[in-house]
Amino acid sequence: MAVEILSVGAYTPPNRVSNDQLAEIYNIDTSDEWIRSHTGIGSRYIASEEETCTDIAHQASLRALEKAGVTVDELDCIIFTTSTPDYKIFPASASILQDKLGAKNAGAFDLAQGCTGFIYGLEVGRSMILGGMKKVLVVGAEKLSTYLNWNDRSTCVLFGDGAGAVVLSHTNEDKSDIFDKYLRSEGSGAEALKVHKGGSKNPLVIGEPVDEDSFIFMDGRQVYNFAVRSVTEVIRILMEKHNISIDDLKYIVPHQANQRIIQAAAKRLGMSMDKFYLNIEEFANTSAATIPIALNEMDEKGLLEKGDLILTVGFGAGLAYGGNLLRW
Ligand code: ACO
Repeated sequence: MAVEILSVGAYTPPNRVSNDQLAEIYNIDTSDEWIRSHTGIGSRYIASEEETCTDIAHQASLRALEKAGVTVDELDCIIFTTSTPDYKIFPASASILQDKLGAKNAGAFDLAQGCTGFIYGLEVGRSMILGGMKKVLVVGAEKLSTYLNWNDRSTCVLFGDGAGAVVLSHTNEDKSDIFDKYLRSEGSGAEALKVHKGGSKNPLVIGEPVDEDSFIFMDGRQVYNFAVRSVTEVIRILMEKHNISIDDLKYIVPHQANQRIIQAAAKRLGMSMDKFYLNIEEFANTSAATIPIALNEMDEKGLLEKGDLILTVGFGAGLAYGGNLLRW
């Protein structure tokens, strides 16, 4: 028995916002030139107030299910990877999505591991199929715009909203489409990327006003250095372990946080940027959704053929990082 990736689907809200538009709408002291030259970002999609994280996930899931030819009734489980659930503590967004889909035979749970969430989700989905489930939906979805501090120009220009989903299935083949992973966490750096308030460590207090501590904080330099180091490590270890050469790989699909992170890692590895699939210019950083959104775009552009070897690599809050080896 093995695991097959049946399909990938994605969705972004219709409202595309360019760097210049963002600066104007939110009155940010920045420029298209600064954002592009420091990050590679040109635009992002921002959801309306009414559209929730599970609405965004719902659209991506419907597209993935349709492409797979799988009905909602066939789903055994929904793994919802996100940092921006509809409700902060509970109920799980996975349960809300399960209801929106009408997936009455499915279990559902959230998996929160920041921008590395989808990498972890794929591995958990793989394990569940090998444990006997027939069909598992893995979704990465974010409504990050809700958590941005529009007064902090070093973070608010980086993120966008969106979702991607894959449908995994059991198969009687002997080789799995997801055949290895590398999962790590460097919790000593946890304070570098956080929403400070609202958890049990720094609880909300009735009557206290909402302030900047309720929004995303990031030590950009620290996260940058961690990201370059971790991307390099994941790629090196997975390739060495499987004796894979750069020519064997069709693409490396990195978490899309900053083009400069990928350029620096590629340089350390002595690799050409052509091997890395980047779409950060269009979508910005959609956290747990960047990798499935990229896979969907590659699929729809016809860049992937059956059997192609793909290495995904993610990093982010935690500070967690990791990668998957996929055979398309
Ligand atoms: N527009 C104009 N100027 C800006 C902006 C902006 N949007 N943001 C910061 N600046 C200014 C700063 O105020 C500073 O000015 P000063 O020198 O007068 O003080 C100057 O630019 C340089 O600031 P730095 O923070 O040193 O800029 P840096 O080159 O490090 O770029 C950035 C900042 C893009 C955030 C970078 O550190 C980075 O990419 N870090 C990693 C971030 C990341 O990848 N996060 C996501 C990973 S995890 C996840 O996905 C959740």
